Amino acid sequence: MSIVMRVATPDALGEIVEAVAGFQRPGRPVQLHPGDLGWNWSLGMQKLADAVRVWSRDGEIVAVGMGDDDGLIRMGIAPSAGDDAVLAGRILDDLPDGYRAVEARSGRAFRALLDSSGWVADESWTPLTRDLAKPVEDCGLRVETIDPHDVRDQLLHDRVAVQRAAFPTSTFTVERWRTMAAAPAYRRARCLVAYDNAGNAVATATVWTAGPGRPGLLEPLGVHRDHRGQGHGRAITVAAAAALQEMGSSHATVCTPTANTGGVATYVSAGFEQHPPVTDFRRPSR
Ligand SMILES: CC(C)(COP(=O)(O)OP(=O)(O)OC[C@H]1O[C@@H](n2cnc3c(N)ncnc32)[C@H](O)[C@@H]1OP(=O)(O)O)[C@@H](O)C(=O)NCCC(=O)NCCS
Repeated sequence: MSIVMRVATPDALGEIVEAVAGFQRPGRPVQLHPGDLGWNWSLGMQKLADAVRVWSRDGEIVAVGMGDDDGLIRMGIAPSAGDDAVLAGRILDDLPDGYRAVEARSGRAFRALLDSSGWVADESWTPLTRDLAKPVEDCGLRVETIDPHDVRDQLLHDRVAVQRAAFPTSTFTVERWRTMAAAPAYRRARCLVAYDNAGNAVATATVWTAGPGRPGLLEPLGVHRDHRGQGHGRAITVAAAAALQEMGSSHATVCTPTANTGGVATYVSAGFEQHPPVTDFRRPSR
């Protein structure tokens, strides 16, 4: 058995997104999703590629990690490789020292190895899922979808403005949206913007499928800071679930910091089932 690790190249990103889509299974923990790669694509292909590491076993991609600027690497592991202790050992050996924490929600062997190697609990996340086998109710707001082939400037402007008004540290721009929407990952995605009765753009979400019958992801979702507490968070979450259902996803999934009580409450209020928190792993201090 040969296991090879490589840093991604821009040319390989499409194939890597496909592999990560194949890792998604209904009922399994929410792990690195094509939507996470797709959202980060907005930062530019080269930056994304530099952050992505890929492990192949006998030529097949079986694990993918996406690093961030804070030293966290988020892992996706193929279900067929979850119990492979040799692969787990290679992943751990290959992790650059610069990574202080690992998100590893799948891959029994890798999780056990992190535990036995002294990695300790880090930030706590709460996974939430909504089964899309049953009908999704109307969300009650006017919701527009941005068509990448016929982008309306005002709609795109609203998408970006609400993103920035929802996340104080957001650096999102129209340019970044265009970069993201031109990428292969976005072929299975949609951006939604919700409007209140007065015509204000109040909430937004991007939803990403992993292909029919697999769980889709909400990433990101936010309500304009001036329009909170009026049920718009619940409404855009319901609209996001409906969009994923229409695109054939089995479930709508999301993971939010456990400390984000407002986020968790919003998803629960929109019919999502709250699962027990999962923690990242922090590298032991030497
Ligand atoms: C979280 C967020 C989407 C909520 O939007 P909102 O429009 O204020 O939410 P709603 O008015 O629809 O409230 C939905 C439910 O969540 C509850 N809720 C909302 N904010 C809350 C808070 N800060 N603390 C506790 N509960 C809260 C509401 O009481 C409501 O519960 P109910 O249906 O049982 O009455 C919004 O605060 C936001 O955009 N935050 C920043 C981005 C973010 O955290 N996104 C989600 C996680 S990625």
